[in-house]
Amino acid sequence: KNELVIAPSILSLDYGHVDEQLKALMDSKAKWLHFDVMDGHFVPNLTFGPDILRGFKKAAPLFMDVHLMVDDPAFFAPIFIQNGADLITFHTEALNNDPSRIKALLQKIHELGAQAGISVKPKTNIEQFASLLNDLDLVLVMSVEPGFGGQSFMEDQLDKVRWLYDARKAQDLGYRIEIDGGINASTYKKALLAGCDTLVAGSYVFKNDIIKSIEGLLE
Ligand code: DX5
Ligand code: ZN
Repeated sequence: KNELVIAPSILSLDYGHVDEQLKALMDSKAKWLHFDVMDGHFVPNLTFGPDILRGFKKAAPLFMDVHLMVDDPAFFAPIFIQNGADLITFHTEALNNDPSRIKALLQKIHELGAQAGISVKPKTNIEQFASLLNDLDLVLVMSVEPGFGGQSFMEDQLDKVRWLYDARKAQDLGYRIEIDGGINASTYKKALLAGCDTLVAGSYVFKNDIIKSIEGLLE
């Protein structure tokens, strides 16, 4: 059984007070930092490049959980690994949901020394990737449409979590099951009950007391 991990999403960081908040993260029980990369094409929003990742890792040396929401993850994965990504998660939709292209990118990420995961948007079926589960360190289930923080939790996405949980057990695998979007004090319990072991939380952590809200999600 995987230990529960909280991955605060710095998409919701207050960029007027970066130092203070990174310090609070270092003093908190968070071991991961969730880093959302958006290219303005795969999703209608723009975020951070590799230099920001390198700077953040220096200031807050946590496990860097990089979530690529980009059209060309095969191009960007190596660049983010060189700049401090410990785990790269990319969207299957960006590779046309093609299992052989997905498998090739997972292999490439592993060869470069990072962990590898896939993510699916709410409308994408997860069961079509059953044959890939053995190659994965993590599966990220989106519980909002990717692109923005602060949206509400889509409870129907927990069906994917339950399926992933059962498949992991049946095949004796160890991948993490991460959920991203709308996690707060009332939704996180449902995610845990369904079988998640890795919780991304953005607005809930950064719009509240950082240390206390992270502690709350571990209770
Ligand atoms: C959305 C991002 C999320 C986002 C979650 O596309 O992938 O990581 O930061 O934000 P909250 O926790 O506010 O829903
Ligand atoms: Zn994310």
